Amino acid sequence: MKIPEAVRRRAEALRRQLDEHNYRYYVLDQPTVSDAEYDRLFDELQRLEQDHPDLVTPDSPTQRVGGAPRADFAPVRHGQPMLSLRKVTTEAELQDFDRRVRETLGVASVDYVGEPKLDGLAVSLTYEHGVLVRGATRGDGETGEDITANLRTIRRIPLRLRGEAPRSIEVRGEVYLPLAGFRRWVEEATQRGERAPVNPRNAAAGSLRQLDPAVTARRPLAFYAYGVGQHDGWERPARHMEVLDCLRHWGFPLSDLIERVRGPDGCQRYFEAMQARRAHLPFDIDGVVFKLDDLAGREELGAVSREPRWAVAYKFAAEEAQTVIEDIDFQVGRTGVLTPTARLRTVFVGGAHVSNATLHNLDEIARKDIRIGDWVVVRRAGDVIPEVKEVVLAKRSHHVRHAQVPQRCPVCDSPVVREPGDPVARCSGGLTCPAQLTRALQHFASRRALDIEGLGEKLLGQLIEQGLVRKSSDIYHLDVQRLAGLERMGEKSAQNLIDAIERSKETTLARFVYALGIPQVGETTAQALAAHFRTLDALIAAALADAPTADAQGLKDKERFPRLREVPDVGPEVARQISLWFAQDKHRALIDELRAAGVRWPQAQAPREGPLNGKTFVLTGTLPGMSRDEASALIEAQGGKVAGSVSKKTDYVVAGDAAGSKLAKAQALGVPVLDLDGLKALLKGGA
Ligand code: IVH
Repeated sequence: MKIPEAVRRRAEALRRQLDEHNYRYYVLDQPTVSDAEYDRLFDELQRLEQDHPDLVTPDSPTQRVGGAPRADFAPVRHGQPMLSLRKVTTEAELQDFDRRVRETLGVASVDYVGEPKLDGLAVSLTYEHGVLVRGATRGDGETGEDITANLRTIRRIPLRLRGEAPRSIEVRGEVYLPLAGFRRWVEEATQRGERAPVNPRNAAAGSLRQLDPAVTARRPLAFYAYGVGQHDGWERPARHMEVLDCLRHWGFPLSDLIERVRGPDGCQRYFEAMQARRAHLPFDIDGVVFKLDDLAGREELGAVSREPRWAVAYKFAAEEAQTVIEDIDFQVGRTGVLTPTARLRTVFVGGAHVSNATLHNLDEIARKDIRIGDWVVVRRAGDVIPEVKEVVLAKRSHHVRHAQVPQRCPVCDSPVVREPGDPVARCSGGLTCPAQLTRALQHFASRRALDIEGLGEKLLGQLIEQGLVRKSSDIYHLDVQRLAGLERMGEKSAQNLIDAIERSKETTLARFVYALGIPQVGETTAQALAAHFRTLDALIAAALADAPTADAQGLKDKERFPRLREVPDVGPEVARQISLWFAQDKHRALIDELRAAGVRWPQAQAPREGPLNGKTFVLTGTLPGMSRDEASALIEAQGGKVAGSVSKKTDYVVAGDAAGSKLAKAQALGVPVLDLDGLKALLKGGA
């Protein structure tokens, strides 16, 4: 049947439009139409193609997921071999690499292009007359596997090139799984009791090796282009940077971390900058790649055994290493909790020497079966606190022994108590324990509490040791003379501290409640309590009125702590802690002393009236150019509330870079997700 010309033209126009929208959405990240509008165009094209099957072209946007599952993958010979990279791990090795390049080329200094080394899978995409005809894995470098059907499902890979295309060209790049997608996958697999992938790289590799492309299509894979292989009918530019520009014009996504750098110093600076950014990127990188920018120079340098002499991979230091646990001891925290800490045989990991690692709590030790004398895998990524990932059981000797929870506090010798079922053991010394007292006072003086600048751990230790401070109210009776007598404390710094203490007296109810250090009452809960009760006396009255319900027999859950539970986000355990804390005479006496010393605050504001009244927000990831505090303040200024976790009651999730499980949960629950621009629009009163 002959297809009417008007239908043919309409189908072609729809394909162009859909390609354009796809490109704007997946490559530029700047969509100009709604999803609904996109779906409408897509449906129209699909209907035309169903009515006129001859209209279907392989590069049609409707053909991303198609074809039957395969039995295996056919071998594909690459037009130009896919090389691998020589690796270096130190600055000296990098300088050696650069010296050889300069000496071979006979030049004084060289420009390189620095690129992130994505931790995914290298693929080669062949385009003929601008249309994707084949996609293959690297394989042994000469011959890979044909995974065209799977690669076509990745939205960031163009099915057809934009603009003028070469007769044929191999485009090289990396398929990877962004961290948000990986975390969501792990979470969902765990919930369903299925096996979760161990890392994003394996997850991406497994997804690409699916025999059924419909499975690959459900995986949130992404792609970055970084080079070209064989080509025909294309005038290759002189520099790699220009090749990347061509790729960009053809519609490929490229990392915006790519930069031209000069000489080994420029390379080292780039490496360090990427290392610092690594923890905040939305995908895994395991190092950076430096490539000679001048393409003629590349030919001169050539390759040795599959590794070009014009490029190098500079890998980040391993984030995991093995070492021995020499001892396990216990640190006493603010509320007396004993936190087990592993003392390690010092090991170099994640770019630093590590000799301590947190073991979190006793359950964690039991779950991982960690014993003194064990070989363990220690993990440290970026600025994160080192932790023990797992025991290397194959290396366990007969001489290992279990960590013993001490019977008495290692700091104050008070008995250690552990309630049945409680994963934590506590020192029973309360504020008579210098460790607990130091931590409690540190918390009291911290920036988000009463904010006493200059009153840190060391100084508090001295004040406690000298008997000058036994509780928080004592801070307000210090004077310059007594302070100036302390070690490393001159008259000037003593006066500064006294001034800071004086300033701290003027505070807010929320800060004051937070500063008290009531177990389970963090900043958000303190704010909620202040907004609800408005005055400290009202809060105390409610806590005291609720206290008798704590252990009363025969009460239903709803009948316990009825007054405190009226506060949004205060659950039974938090209410219990609050009421028991205020019920203690010594705590109310301390509050009186602080007030008598001049600590004061205005009556707390009732929740602000504004357009966001009654709306609950959750923030996740890093917002470009705005801190979390700023975003929260803006939302609260318009009457909105910022909560810590996503639930059905959440109205909006604001997601920045490297957003993780909260974003996934929002998507699963159908909670609207905003980016920073979306939030700004909402704050301005937009839709
Ligand atoms: S270039 C000769 N650039 O690293 C050039 N590779 O060992 C060969 N990779 O299999 C590749 N990011 O999977 C290049 N920006 C990048 C890369 C990159 C990651 C991977 C790729 C390749 C391996 C090389």
